[in-house]
Amino acid sequence: MELELTDEQKMVQKTAADFAKSEVLPKAAEIDRNHRHPKELVARMAELGLMGVAVPEEYGGAGFDTISYVLAMEEISRACASTGVIMSVNNSLVCDPILKFGSEEQKKKWLVPLASGQLLGCFALSEPEAGSDAAAQKTVAKKTADGDYLISGVKNWITNGPVADVCVLICMTAKELGHKGISAFILPMKEKGVRVGPPDKKLGIRGSQSCQIFLDDVKLSPSAMLGKEGDGFKIAMATLDGGRIGIASQALGIARASLEDSLAYAMERRTFGKPIAQHQAIQWKLADMATELEGARLLTWRAATLKDEGGRFSMEAAMAKVFASEVCNRAAKEAVQIFGGNGYVEDFPVERHFRDAKITEIYEGTSEIQRLVIAGNLLKE
Ligand code: CAA
Repeated sequence: MELELTDEQKMVQKTAADFAKSEVLPKAAEIDRNHRHPKELVARMAELGLMGVAVPEEYGGAGFDTISYVLAMEEISRACASTGVIMSVNNSLVCDPILKFGSEEQKKKWLVPLASGQLLGCFALSEPEAGSDAAAQKTVAKKTADGDYLISGVKNWITNGPVADVCVLICMTAKELGHKGISAFILPMKEKGVRVGPPDKKLGIRGSQSCQIFLDDVKLSPSAMLGKEGDGFKIAMATLDGGRIGIASQALGIARASLEDSLAYAMERRTFGKPIAQHQAIQWKLADMATELEGARLLTWRAATLKDEGGRFSMEAAMAKVFASEVCNRAAKEAVQIFGGNGYVEDFPVERHFRDAKITEIYEGTSEIQRLVIAGNLLKE
């Protein structure tokens, strides 16, 4: 077992850490306060190769591996969880399925600009009545006499939706076939009939814009289909396996921010004549936060390693996501407690970490869904 990062992975980590510290962190509170999409940071991430970390260079990416992606995601999310998820959706939910399931023509047309960050992507699976029950798709693509598809329906909570150029869209092409009648398309967001709703007003990750997408007889040719007709559900599920590694890494970043901010504060803040870091009540919290963070990181690295080996890693990704997201919520909650009254006001960053943490237990599959995936795999064996 090899637990040492390679020189290349360390280089990606350092590049992301330097950028996060000098350019992302100083803006994180303002981005959150103003619910602002950090366009200029996304442009810088594109320059640094962070919008397609594990996409081969020939398709516009940086050509690194999934561990490098995970390392970069932790660094960016440690500074700003909103910026982290913008990056994660583009890498995991948009570039990855096009790389894995796209035709050569689709890779040249869409993957190259997406992975190099010239275009930004979103992934539209969820609907008002198809969240956890992802197969219950009501958005329908009907085949016309000339072979094109006319697509109508509503998509919900689409991260990057208000600012995306391209969408990986999942919808029903043959309702009678259930999940085997679901297909995936690459949809340009400027296509006639696509309307984007106002940005959702969210508890946390307020710089990450999400919205409803309304599709009204949107016409796409068969060349826009990703994979074959009926492959859409498996494409979505396989894509989410990778996405869950990205969200686990985002959770690591938020947990680390909670721990590092708490450590710094505990050494400064004094009660009963000494820094609060010298009270055992605080030390135990810090010890638990650090220990759980290490555990979550190892699970996430293991899932990333398995992804790069090319086999199925659904259970390991679900384990990483459920554990890291719950670790991150515990860490953020304890950070607020360590900060006391100062943890409850906007002037200190842990209030933001507390709000940002919650979504990691919800999107790309709730904690309940992750446990279903894990149990399903255990019972299969
Ligand atoms: N990879 C490949 N194939 C898979 C798969 C995977 N990970 N998971 C399931 N499949 C296949 C199964 O093998 C099965 O194939 P067969 O029909 O050939 O046997 C088929 O898909 C159906 O599988 P299930 O019977 O397990 O499907 P289900 O309807 O019971 O659903 C579920 C399973 C795990 C609950 C799934 O619906 C799920 O993951 N739900 C959560 C959805 C989710 O994560 N949504 C997040 C939205 S995206 C988002 O949040 C993005 C964002 O904006 C940040």
